[in-house]
Amino acid sequence: MAGKVAFVTGAGSGIGRGTAELFASRGYLVALVDITEAGLRETEAMIRDAGGDCASFTCNVADDASVKAAVTSAVARFGRIDAAFNAAGISGEAGKMTADCSIDNWHKVIGIDLTGVWHCMRHLIPQMLGQGGGAIVNCASTAGVRGAAFCGAYSAAKHGVVGLTKAAALEYASQGLRINAVCPGMIMTPKTQTGAMKEVIDQLVLDTPLGRLGQPEEIGAAVLWLCGEDATFVHGQAIVVDGAITSR
Ligand SMILES: NC(=O)c1ccc[n+]([C@@H]2O[C@H](COP(=O)([O-])OP(=O)(O)OC[C@H]3O[C@@H](n4cnc5c(N)ncnc54)[C@H](O)[C@@H]3O)[C@@H](O)[C@H]2O)c1
Repeated sequence: MAGKVAFVTGAGSGIGRGTAELFASRGYLVALVDITEAGLRETEAMIRDAGGDCASFTCNVADDASVKAAVTSAVARFGRIDAAFNAAGISGEAGKMTADCSIDNWHKVIGIDLTGVWHCMRHLIPQMLGQGGGAIVNCASTAGVRGAAFCGAYSAAKHGVVGLTKAAALEYASQGLRINAVCPGMIMTPKTQTGAMKEVIDQLVLDTPLGRLGQPEEIGAAVLWLCGEDATFVHGQAIVVDGAITSR
């Protein structure tokens, strides 16, 4: 993949970081995008230490102008964008009944997890069309393909990501773009290792037929496959990577 360029949001931590590292290890030049500068610096150092090439762009995906600037800067730096993984996201308030979810939480989760993905797509798609093609993978969740009690905003946002992915796949099918979503199950990242989440992890491990949490790189492997030459007929799909938890 030498010379190909990947654009990864949420690259400062967790699944985004693991996927950015994998892109770099396969020869992609990687545009690292995140709201947290410290996380970006860490990912950048990891990739450079392993011999990869990358550049960091601080960006709030909930802000359309900020996303436009990140895409423009990434293209200015690397010349094109061949693959994009829109992984920036938050869980928001957990453990609240739907009627008890705060209005602030609703708007924040939808603004980052759903509108943020759309912001990325609306700037990535014209760039990719202009250069003759590309592949986009949006990060949804198992909460985007089945109900997830006590996190209604998150589940709504992730179902929205799947719907947006499928709609765009239909629209751009004949124009050299491939657009898919990946739906991770429980993955070992800082997001799942903090606060209230920690208490439900043991149960989720028990519920997962493979008997463990996934690793960020296991999502990254699916993303790289979706972006690569072996998935040229895969389009408009929401690929679940979850140790079979949704197969129950
Ligand atoms: N970890 C899991 O078990 C799991 C399961 C299903 C889906 N996901 C999804 O995977 C993605 C990554 O999750 P993770 O577990 O790696 O979380 P994480 O918290 O480790 O990483 C998320 C990254 O997104 C960045 N981010 C947050 N808000 C942002 C914004 N407004 N603009 C730009 N960057 C922003 C954070 O700074 C962070 O670096 C999310 O979309 C999440 O919903 C995670």
